[in-house]
Amino acid sequence: MRKITIAIDGYSSCGKSTMAKQLAKKLGYIYVDTGAMYRSVTLYALRRGLFAEDGTVDADTLKSEMGNISISFKVNAQTGQPDTYLNDELVEGEIRTLRVSNHVSPIAALPFVREAMVAKQRQMGLEKGVVMDGRDIGTTVFPDAELKIFVTASPEVRAQRRYDELKAKGADADYDAVLRNVQERDYIDTHREVSPLCKADDAVVLDNSEMTIEEQDQWLMKEYCRVCGNK
Ligand code: DC
Repeated sequence: MRKITIAIDGYSSCGKSTMAKQLAKKLGYIYVDTGAMYRSVTLYALRRGLFAEDGTVDADTLKSEMGNISISFKVNAQTGQPDTYLNDELVEGEIRTLRVSNHVSPIAALPFVREAMVAKQRQMGLEKGVVMDGRDIGTTVFPDAELKIFVTASPEVRAQRRYDELKAKGADADYDAVLRNVQERDYIDTHREVSPLCKADDAVVLDNSEMTIEEQDQWLMKEYCRVCGNK
């Protein structure tokens, strides 16, 4: 069966990574979480003390040290999903912390960081058979991807999902604060100078505000079959 490249872009907290992981598993494709790569560079910069008090980053030093940063993914035998490694150290948990989330935007806006990550992402997708999720996959990384999906849901629905997740983890969450954070991240992602989040002209929109997981899975498989011609 012919292998294709599947690009999944969209807003934060839309469930992109969950759907991309499941789709990759079903198709026997490789899943690449590009957000994890920007998060890993952020963790490196935090550990090196490259952030000033006001949240700005020492870009010159980071640029000179980009050669020291190696990011890789290895499949976790227990979960069957890829874990993220920074210079061969497992950082899957640490890159998901609030500390990293709060510092990642300025890192993801640095042109030399994006250039290095995009080159690595293209290399990982060279053989096709890949589901890659991010913000600029269909527009910049793989403009020729056979299937491009742009995921969206209303800010209120996404905030509610995130709020429920935090509550389920036992965290102290405030819905209005979560909603503000979702709206702020949308603004930053769509107004960034380099590779802002935008729908590729040939991407299909998936608004999952009112969809169940099963409906979403069916929708994804239908799109995959439409492109590949397999039923
Ligand atoms: O998807 P995520 O929340 O893990 O992404 C983390 C950050 O990285 C987020 O601020 C958006 C940014 N990002 C990006 O700029 N380009 C990508 N391809 C993926 C993520």
